Amino acid sequence: METSSKITKVGIIGAGQMGSGIAHVCAQFGFDVLLYDIAKEVIDDSLISIEKQAKRLHEKQRITKNDYKAICSNILKSTNLEDFSDRELIIEAATEEEEIKKSIFKTLLPIIHHNAILATNTSSISITRLAAATDRPQAFIGVHFMNPVPVMKLVEIIKGITTDDVTYQTIIDFISKLDKTAVTSQDFPAFIVNRILVPMLNEAMFILYEGISNVNDIDQAMKLGANHPMGPLELADFIGLDTCLSIMQVIFNGSGDSKYRPCPLLVNYVEAGWLGRKSGKGFYDYSQNVPVPS
Ligand SMILES: NC(=O)c1ccc[n+]([C@@H]2O[C@H](COP(=O)([O-])OP(=O)(O)OC[C@H]3O[C@@H](n4cnc5c(N)ncnc54)[C@H](O)[C@@H]3O)[C@@H](O)[C@H]2O)c1
Repeated sequence: METSSKITKVGIIGAGQMGSGIAHVCAQFGFDVLLYDIAKEVIDDSLISIEKQAKRLHEKQRITKNDYKAICSNILKSTNLEDFSDRELIIEAATEEEEIKKSIFKTLLPIIHHNAILATNTSSISITRLAAATDRPQAFIGVHFMNPVPVMKLVEIIKGITTDDVTYQTIIDFISKLDKTAVTSQDFPAFIVNRILVPMLNEAMFILYEGISNVNDIDQAMKLGANHPMGPLELADFIGLDTCLSIMQVIFNGSGDSKYRPCPLLVNYVEAGWLGRKSGKGFYDYSQNVPVPS
């Protein structure tokens, strides 16, 4: 492992929704992938679902037979972080808790190669702060894939204050090899997409909260008036209202600007356990075949 710009071996930590998607895409484009999760059964489930999804994409002719074969053969499962000693790039995609992420990096540091790049898929935690908890803040970077990873073209690259240019260029090159488009953000909570998107959803909730309009009309307005494929309240339910609230809180606390205060209706819904689609109720009720406004 001479220079970090020649990445062929990728290690992924966390085999949930995002880790599985990242493994899928890396394997598809020929990278040698090692996938680890603290919960051993999650890795097996992940490998099964990656293969199923790849099969579906192949049947729909969205990927070639060779892509399908590459996805099935390029991912190895790992149940021991010691296996990560030969990885050139390690992407952490574990649960969104700072202490969990820091403890993963602490365990990895004595094991991994001194040239290996460390990356995190965090949506909200400071890249600079995570980098400072490692022995290589210059080779630490945020790579924020979008969900679902095999479908979404964008990856946000987040430079911490200490991230150096070699690391940044290596990751830009890596992302282009995955046939994704990279955009770069400085290290501020919610980065670009969520910083724009989630306050817009919050504003739609204020429109409802202030009695200016109703659920149907707000969603209809943005679908027909701004050409959005989903209305903002429908989209908030899809993302998860708890996730929307936590992103708003991160932006609000990070900026100290009252324009980012979470809508009280959002707070109430989350406190009531109305988390959107995943809990069966949010701005819409999903108990019938066709969702109806709650
Ligand atoms: N879900 C999204 O839409 C989305 C989008 C972009 C980024 N992200 C970010 O990606 C990361 C993962 O999110 P997700 O949606 O895949 O979550 P998830 O809950 O589906 O998966 C997280 C996985 O991390 C594992 N894990 C927990 N502690 C671990 C440890 N110590 N070592 C190894 N694995 C551990 C869990 O067992 C779980 O399988 C988070 O940082 C999240 O903010 C999520």
